[in-house]
Amino acid sequence: MQQTLLLLKPDAVQRRLVGEIISRLEKKGLRLAGLKLVQASTTLAASHYAVHKGKPFYDSLLQFLTSGPTVAMVWEGREAVAVCRTLMGITDGAKAPPGTIRGDLAISVQNNLVHGSDSPENAAAEIALWFQPGELVSCSNCDANWVN
Ligand code: RTP
Ligand code: MG
Repeated sequence: MQQTLLLLKPDAVQRRLVGEIISRLEKKGLRLAGLKLVQASTTLAASHYAVHKGKPFYDSLLQFLTSGPTVAMVWEGREAVAVCRTLMGITDGAKAPPGTIRGDLAISVQNNLVHGSDSPENAAAEIALWFQPGELVSCSNCDANWVN
């Protein structure tokens, strides 16, 4: 089953939206395979967003991601990468459609609550960056035959 890395960025934690966002992912039928609260270091944030190095928003982005605790999660399910990106909505909260996490709960470009891996390859690399293999749990949820 495909896995993806989801981060609830520091704005989601500060705004007490962790439960709301996790609830949406659970209800969709995804399975939680890993979960922890992390105070990201600048080194971790820089590795995570290395693809954006040199862009005008890069320094501010690193400051944002290290400004408080982040909830790091691995979610698993059919087409999990694309499903999570769809549930998140596009980057700019002001333009993200209603019904999406960003569309319903964010209005900023930077402070947009969630990160989701954008390909299965990047998901594997990002999961390895944020989690040790022993921190992930394999199991089948009891409703798997109904959900999948
Ligand atoms: P993410 O990587 O966090 O899932 O977000 P994304 O794919 O929708 O957007 P991406 O282009 O990868 O940008 C990464 C994060 O950088 C911040 N950002 N700020 N000020 C700006 O113009 C700007 N553009 C992007 C956002 O926090 C975005 O999620
Ligand atoms: Mg991205």
